[in-house]
Amino acid sequence: MNAWYGLGRSATRPNDSLSPYFMPILSLQNVTKDYSTDAAPVRALDGVSLDVAAGEFVALVGRSGCGKSTLLNLAGAMDFPTSGSVLLDGVATSSLKDAELTKLRREKVGFIFQSFQLLNTLTVFGNVELPLMLAGKPNAREAAGERLTWVELEGLGDRYPHQLSGGQMQRVGIARALIHAPKLLLADEPTGNLDTTTGNLILELLRRLARERNTATVMATHSAEAAALADVVVRLRDGKIQDVVRR
Ligand SMILES: Nc1ncnc2c1ncn2[C@@H]1O[C@H](COP(=O)(O)OP(=O)(O)OP(=O)(O)O)[C@@H](O)[C@H]1O
Ligand SMILES: [Mg+2]
Repeated sequence: MNAWYGLGRSATRPNDSLSPYFMPILSLQNVTKDYSTDAAPVRALDGVSLDVAAGEFVALVGRSGCGKSTLLNLAGAMDFPTSGSVLLDGVATSSLKDAELTKLRREKVGFIFQSFQLLNTLTVFGNVELPLMLAGKPNAREAAGERLTWVELEGLGDRYPHQLSGGQMQRVGIARALIHAPKLLLADEPTGNLDTTTGNLILELLRRLARERNTATVMATHSAEAAALADVVVRLRDGKIQDVVRR
């Protein structure tokens, strides 16, 4: 039988798991992910079970190739498990049709990338408000301004990405990821392109936002500082959870 590694309050108090209040934002249940290749298929995740509660700040660590990015892609419904289930806010991602998936990805999840992925032809305001514009939502500029305040970039909305430092670009990336007020923030090596000091400021910002906005955050990282700031450190090895440490 596979070990069950619960992380959220639902996990530590199993009797509460029937109460909607304790429903994890993200739940991986015995998840296996195989990638097909020209040679034998690669098993990137192998029987992973994990619950993440609202507001929890989780660091995903382990050697290159252990499955961190794969787990984040499944958590964000960008890809689907070969077997097992991924539940986002209680809904199995594999059960959804395209239109429902688009809505789920857009409204429940925010992504932060190592390389920021800003659009160079748009200003900071333009980058942050773009997801709202694409969703046809009103008051995009106002919402973007509010998010820029959250990441302490007020006043820089009219600049272009090339006029920003790396740390400022990542703050824009975070503001954009928060534009829909998602319940889950997924970050793949968010400090990988930043110097240690700037990276640590970004980590502290992510942790503060997780607390203040009750946004569950799952971050793949090679940084010891990142793991030290997390509420929960999940160590993967060869696609399996090796251990889970709560602070
Ligand atoms: N599209 C793919 N096709 C085939 N194999 C893949 C694919 N994506 C990932 N893999 C394999 O799955 C395993 C897990 O990869 P993954 O990218 O999740 O690792 P990671 O922990 O994020 O590594 P890193 O720290 O280097 O980013 C690796 O063996 C990788 O080669
Ligand atoms: Mg990776």
